[in-house]
Amino acid sequence: MTDTGFCLWFTGLSGAGKSTIANLVVDELRRRGHRVELLDGDEVREHLSKGLGFSKEDRDTNIRRIGFVASLLARNGVVAVTAAISPYRAVREEVRGWIERFVEIHVATPLEECEARDVKGLYAKARAGEIPEFTGVSDPYEPPAHPEIRVETSGRTPAESAAEVVAWLERAGLSPPR
Ligand code: ADX
Repeated sequence: MTDTGFCLWFTGLSGAGKSTIANLVVDELRRRGHRVELLDGDEVREHLSKGLGFSKEDRDTNIRRIGFVASLLARNGVVAVTAAISPYRAVREEVRGWIERFVEIHVATPLEECEARDVKGLYAKARAGEIPEFTGVSDPYEPPAHPEIRVETSGRTPAESAAEVVAWLERAGLSPPR
């Protein structure tokens, strides 16, 4: 059992691939004997953050809640993996300050690609004015200036992106190779 807790904080636009890549990283870390919890944006909003909307204030509240739970997990030997858009730099930095080993991962899929894929059909609705304050369309996304890891997903499979993250963790001494 590997018992060093840390936090993997995925950030990026809706449809960037955060959840897909995070899930693959979670699977590999479990195979390596880590205890892992995934706090996925969509799932958190069904439970921990039910009732919150998408104003800056509500998003910041959502991120602080996720960060608080992640900090509890990480200090108890669990790998806390989060996958919310977390569009605002300041609150991401605030949460970083709560967690000793905080690894920020920017899933840097360009807006044009997220929009072209439009897996959930939300970009089309946002462009039609049916969803106000939509990240990247009518609401800001502030990319991390110095993320620990920047994942360029263009021309790569999710498995390749996940492998990059795991390789970084190996180099950082956070996850010994199998
Ligand atoms: S965050 O900004 O508070 O970090 P979070 O990751 O929890 O966002 O939720 C984002 C998801 O909510 C998106 O993937 C999308 O499915 C949905 N969503 C609904 N309305 C919006 C909106 N206005 N902006 C962004 N995402 C939205």
